[in-house]
Amino acid sequence: MENNKKIQIFDTTLRDGEQSPGASIAPERKIIIARQLAKLGIDVIEPGFAVSSAGEFAAVQQISRELQQVEIAGFARAVKGDIDAAVRATADAARRRLHLFISSSDIHLSHQLRKSREEVIRIARDMVAYGKQFVDEIEFSAMDSTRSGRDFVIQLVEAVIEEGATIINLPDTLGYAMPDEMIELFRAVRKEARGGESVRYSAHCHNDLGMAVANSLAAIQGGATQIEVTVNGIGERAGNCSLEELVMAIETRRDHLKAETNIRIGEIYETSRIVSRTMNFPIAYNKPIVGRNAFQHESGIHQDGLLKNRNTYEIMDPEAMGISRSMIVLGKHSGSHAIKHRLSDFGIEPNDEQFKAIYTRFKEVADGQKIVTDNELIRIAGDMTKTQPDPYVLVDLLVHAGMQRARTATVTVRENGQGSEKSYMAMGAGPLEAVILAIQQAIPAAAEFEDLELHSLSTGEDAFGEAAVSVVYNGERFRGSSVHKDIILAAAQAYVSACNQALMSANAVRKPDQRQQTAN
Ligand code: KIV
Ligand code: ZN
Repeated sequence: MENNKKIQIFDTTLRDGEQSPGASIAPERKIIIARQLAKLGIDVIEPGFAVSSAGEFAAVQQISRELQQVEIAGFARAVKGDIDAAVRATADAARRRLHLFISSSDIHLSHQLRKSREEVIRIARDMVAYGKQFVDEIEFSAMDSTRSGRDFVIQLVEAVIEEGATIINLPDTLGYAMPDEMIELFRAVRKEARGGESVRYSAHCHNDLGMAVANSLAAIQGGATQIEVTVNGIGERAGNCSLEELVMAIETRRDHLKAETNIRIGEIYETSRIVSRTMNFPIAYNKPIVGRNAFQHESGIHQDGLLKNRNTYEIMDPEAMGISRSMIVLGKHSGSHAIKHRLSDFGIEPNDEQFKAIYTRFKEVADGQKIVTDNELIRIAGDMTKTQPDPYVLVDLLVHAGMQRARTATVTVRENGQGSEKSYMAMGAGPLEAVILAIQQAIPAAAEFEDLELHSLSTGEDAFGEAAVSVVYNGERFRGSSVHKDIILAAAQAYVSACNQALMSANAVRKPDQRQQTAN
């Protein structure tokens, strides 16, 4: 029987993650992310820094009141005013802890705090004792502990344990540590600090050298039973330990780590998307687990292996994490087997002659651009087989943008059942909004517009842009994408494609298990 160690996941996306340059969220919107974190199965949520503003205080209070199934951490410097705010803001949580921190490295002590080690120990003692009057569970963080010297960390930890700290967090604040140092630090503190065996341990690793996940796993080996993470690894500078990477490492290498978490991995992708969208923070294409390319394979040899058996080139099942994207990117390296497979995903089964024509045309298109989107493949198949699977075709687009006049878009679409072409005009705050509103008129049965992502596929003024649009229809999500040098046209094509997919799904044109498929 498996006897795995349970690792608690402490999420600080809404506190440390929000300190990411570029990531921002209005305090009143934090609840959207917090609800999803609860759904994901997070053990402890740190919703913000209550003392920092009235809005932050209200957000921490709202999350504490609503999410009664999750433990809430009230974050505070070792200062009475911070502690009072954190205690008040979390007062209605069903379970809560106070998370207090002070720096422990000489660099911070002399240049930032301007205090001696003795003074820091005294402040830490006093503030833990002060907080303990209000809250039983006290997490104490020795900030920059990996650059503080082990002896002083042990002294500080002994002092706070004596005053009632119940969880000791040893942050690698600057992402400086090496994994073997992390193991040793945790082992030494646990063993050598007086009372060290009576408390729980936590790691909080930053990613400056790309080792936040490795160092967090090392901390587990050293005795930590809690890891502090952020969704998509967002956070100060290079970010924090990424939730999805850590959890999937534990899940995938359970045999080696002998550990497990309470995370519902089926919610991982949705959580990542919600955080990225709500905090306006894009995800790198090659980001493990949740990046667009994380489960996509372009090489013909890999594609061939995957189609025979997924385990040949994948160590995780993306669908288990809620990622229903296609695992194969079609491009110039794709073989006929992969293209046939993708066509059949869309319910298109050409005869040999038709397939030959599709394949030849596909290669021509693929030679000119790196990837061929599903949208384009369907169009090629339609042209070559003289069938047109798209219910709507975008025929023309005219956009006015600029400073002095209204931004307008006129779209012309052909409805295939009717053969007629109609034009619709709309105004928007910008040209993209105008395009979306015009398409909504043109395709009245269209699914609810959910999201638009724009990416430049290279640099320079002649770069191709990629647009991906997701829509929700009958509770299901559909994504359309398109690549073009004109990014506004790409957005329009992607939106029409997403609507077409939704409408085709209603007519059962596509196989049910291929719904929610994301285009390339
Ligand atoms: O990085 C860090 O040291 C922190 C602590 C305050 C927990 O965020
Ligand atoms: Zn941090």
